[in-house]
Amino acid sequence: MITAAEHEQLLDAARQAVARAYAPYSNFYVGAAILTSEGRIFTGCNVENASYGLTICAERSAIFTAVQQTSGKLVLRAVAVVNRDRVACSPCGACRQVIAEFGRDIVVIFQGQNGFQESTIADLLPETFRLS
Ligand code: THU
Repeated sequence: MITAAEHEQLLDAARQAVARAYAPYSNFYVGAAILTSEGRIFTGCNVENASYGLTICAERSAIFTAVQQTSGKLVLRAVAVVNRDRVACSPCGACRQVIAEFGRDIVVIFQGQNGFQESTIADLLPETFRLS
């Protein structure tokens, strides 16, 4: 669960991150912001490459930055994702798996067909792969 203020704060941060996106191939610019259990916010953007498969999504970009900047285990409370075109866009399967690594009750905020919606990562990725 997150508060309405946290919801808005994350969307604001994600919108700022879109400006950094590097997406000359798809022209689909994405920003993400994540809220950690310590109350910190990290952002990320998609970074594409001429070798298309090397592209990283905004959500994983934000999470990998947070891992690098966090001592101890990273636990996430929420992830927000926005795109410059304001079209419906939920996290891809790869990002869902990576998000699920960092908490079971993570709230995911994304653009749906009718505005932003919230789901839990458990709802977005049932039967998550885990090693333990
Ligand atoms: N993309 C993201 O960054 N996050 C998503 O949730 C969906 C897709 C990026 C990857 C690629 O750079 C572009 O959007 C088009 O697929």
